[in-house]
Amino acid sequence: MAENEKIGRLKSLDREALRLAEAAETLRWDQETYMPEDAIGARSEQIALLETLAHQRETAEEVGELLEALGSTEAQPLGREELEPGDRAFLRAKRRAFDLATKLPAQLVRRFAEVTSRGQAAWVKAKNADDFEQFRPHLEEIVALNREKAERFGYEEHIYDALLDQFEPFAKTREVEALFSDLAGSLVDLVGRIRERPQVDDSMLQRSYSVAKQELLAGELLSQLGYEFNRGRLDVSAHPFTTTLGPNDVRITTRYHEDLFASAIFSTIHEAGHALYELGVAEEYHDTLLATGTSLGIHESQSRLWENMVGRSREFWSHWFPRVAELFKQELAGVDAEAFYRAINKVEPSLIRIEADEVTYSLHVILRFRLEMGLMTGDLEVKDLPEAWNATMEELLGITPPSAAKGVLQDVHWSMGAIGYFPTYALGNLYGAQFLDTLTSEIPEAYEEVSRGNPAPILDWLRERIHRHGAAKTPKELVTEVTGAPLDPGHFVRYLETKYGEIYGLS
Ligand code: CO
Repeated sequence: MAENEKIGRLKSLDREALRLAEAAETLRWDQETYMPEDAIGARSEQIALLETLAHQRETAEEVGELLEALGSTEAQPLGREELEPGDRAFLRAKRRAFDLATKLPAQLVRRFAEVTSRGQAAWVKAKNADDFEQFRPHLEEIVALNREKAERFGYEEHIYDALLDQFEPFAKTREVEALFSDLAGSLVDLVGRIRERPQVDDSMLQRSYSVAKQELLAGELLSQLGYEFNRGRLDVSAHPFTTTLGPNDVRITTRYHEDLFASAIFSTIHEAGHALYELGVAEEYHDTLLATGTSLGIHESQSRLWENMVGRSREFWSHWFPRVAELFKQELAGVDAEAFYRAINKVEPSLIRIEADEVTYSLHVILRFRLEMGLMTGDLEVKDLPEAWNATMEELLGITPPSAAKGVLQDVHWSMGAIGYFPTYALGNLYGAQFLDTLTSEIPEAYEEVSRGNPAPILDWLRERIHRHGAAKTPKELVTEVTGAPLDPGHFVRYLETKYGEIYGLS
């Protein structure tokens, strides 16, 4: 077989795996949105079957042989230089995916699935009962299995590298530790100064807002942000998510609560940020594993850039507030654009990560990162986790959870076996701010356009510089090529200092 035939064969196996995975994903989307409750039995089987078929195409011996024959080995992370750049990127990603899918013995994969399935059920019960002890033995097994996974994947320096790499390709624990240590110092200092200032009134956000009008507003916001309804949909689910069902089908969900008006708006914008990224991948990568975001951290940079850096900006609301005030005349009676802007940017150390503001959010992530590292190296034992959680929370946020349910038991991630995932949330903030600095230096009028109701220059720039590359560039390559420098937390810290310095009158 000639070289280009081998690549062709590899691409056709990859495309079949992708289509099967998308079909499974479509059923999953339906399960979360419209499926009648009693349909779950057959649905689980349908999804499992499709995923098995996709997995077979990803891990087939033939894939390994083709990669070998094409000279794609771990020793050559960038692939062979004489190949087309698109093919090199494809082979590199395919090699990574193949290794991740085949390095773990089937027995370990099965065991991991069993333990995490029981673990999730135990976590729900433990959280409801506010009793960490009920979850402890499950988490002990999950930690042990993650250690075994890390050993199988292999690592050079830190056991946590192997876990982190699953979610943030090529990121190293040592680097993340250094970034987060800088960031934690700056954030703790900023939060301390904010707490000394008069606090912001956000009571108007707790009034009751009509769900029907919230839905109307969500649709209008999405259209203006450039989310195309001929290539996606907005539906309702218990937890908001984005899912890619094909190159021209990236759907998002949200949820509406009468008393959580701001939450629905911003989670909709957040998911739109994820969807715009997936929808912006260049056509040449469609139908391959490169047709997606390059890492969870870069993905989160897109969602959080739209949600916070654009969606919570004064310029954005100078355009949108009149419309919102017109829709919610009674709810927003006596509130002006400035009061609304301040309310949606209120900073206050709080217990729950997913409800945290833009300034304190990363501290919640750093807390989890530190604990996870301790668990993996063995410096921290699971039985001591609640105490370590509370102590680190006090150190970083100055508050102590009144219960395990509002502390160590609040997130689903560990029960699902996902260790190494949390750092990507804070990395997203850092990447986002660094991208934004380059964006605004190249398009100085970007925010002025936002205040005129035109965020298109921002989307066009993100598409051109980030989205179109899909997963063809690694996070590190992307950041360096787009911004001219490696990741530096200074961008995010300066962004926060400027914005919140003004809101809270810090000197
Ligand atoms: Co997100």
